[in-house]
Amino acid sequence: MAVIPVALAGRSYEVRIGSGLLADVASECAPFLRKQRVPIVTDRNVEAKWRAVVEASLIAAGKEPCWLVHEPGEGAKSWDGLARTVEWLLAEEVERGDHVLALGGGVIGDLTGFACAVLKRGCGFVQLPTTLLAQVDSSVGGKTAINTPAGKNLVGSFHQPSLVLADLDALATLPTREMRAGYAEVLKYGVLGDAAFFDWCAANAPALLSGDKSAQEEAVARSVAAKARIVAEDERETTGVRALLNLGHTFGHALEAETGFSDRLLHGEAVALGMVLAARYSARRELISSDDAERVAQQVAAAELPANLPALGLTCNGQRLADHMLHDKKMDAGTLPFVLLKGIGQAFLAKDVELADVAQFLDDQLA
Ligand code: NAD
Ligand code: GLY
Repeated sequence: MAVIPVALAGRSYEVRIGSGLLADVASECAPFLRKQRVPIVTDRNVEAKWRAVVEASLIAAGKEPCWLVHEPGEGAKSWDGLARTVEWLLAEEVERGDHVLALGGGVIGDLTGFACAVLKRGCGFVQLPTTLLAQVDSSVGGKTAINTPAGKNLVGSFHQPSLVLADLDALATLPTREMRAGYAEVLKYGVLGDAAFFDWCAANAPALLSGDKSAQEEAVARSVAAKARIVAEDERETTGVRALLNLGHTFGHALEAETGFSDRLLHGEAVALGMVLAARYSARRELISSDDAERVAQQVAAAELPANLPALGLTCNGQRLADHMLHDKKMDAGTLPFVLLKGIGQAFLAKDVELADVAQFLDDQLA
């Protein structure tokens, strides 16, 4: 098992990564389970695969698990989903000193984390991430949110978990497409800050994606360590350091908006293509070589993730995609900071990007 500390003054916690963590959840979480009843939030897909395992561990430890099960998908990350979760936690008489278990992907983690942030002005929670994306990204760092009709993740808070248990066994039941989408966020850590890890990904992606536990443990541990370093330096995304984690997200967000935030393009798939576009746009500005930009594209394509805009079959032009960017929540006093590359492993925040130039670039990419 790998253990990665997230060091934050007064709110430090561990991310434990390995096999069998869900089967042993009662003892892993023992310091946080002070009452007999243990509230757990999950979704129906995860419930089908993992409820029995989690329940067996808790019951053997003399606990009484109680479950709130949401429908799978982004729909749960809504005002209705939040109200349902908070009302249920109130009915369960959860107190500020209690902990709630969030068992699922980024949707359940974000929703449960936000519900716990506002319940009685803040109760504890433990992240039990079951997707690769949630293990390497959303369960770590304390960003919690719901979506509203105005956009994704527009209502939320920073609320750190007390513990994260990333059980690699959970990845065995994850659909292949979700696994590949999560891998985009792994590759992102290499592209943004660690050229050696990028090379490691190039060599080990096939093993990781086909279920090799040792490759998975190394990928998750190195990704979490990278995120933990960044979050410890800039927890609230105020200095520009944490903003580097948004590599690929500005282009990706526009693509998700154009495809209706639907299953047509998963978040990780949008980030993968967004990362390629950020690399190619960096090459257009002569910040990196075209060869380096194409190395990023090759690794994305090798993982069977989208690496070219025409493959999405969009009917819009570049200006329309750039217009979506105007609604990005990273807009800051009329400018949109872009994460660009000076090299593989050398991301930086550019504040001088003209959206008209981006629109022209996207037209070229769409052609
Ligand atoms: P998700 O939670 O919707 O999970 C993807 C699908 O896999 C769902 O259908 C789910 O039911 C299913 N699933 C989950 N675990 C499974 C398992 N082990 N076996 C079988 N099926 C399983 O999606 P996600 O990709 O994990 O997360 C996406 C969400 O995360 C988005 O809402 C995004 O905004 C958010 N996010 C948050 C952060 C953050 O820092 N808080 C970072 C990145 C993404
Ligand atoms: N997923 C980006 C962040 O946590 O800041």
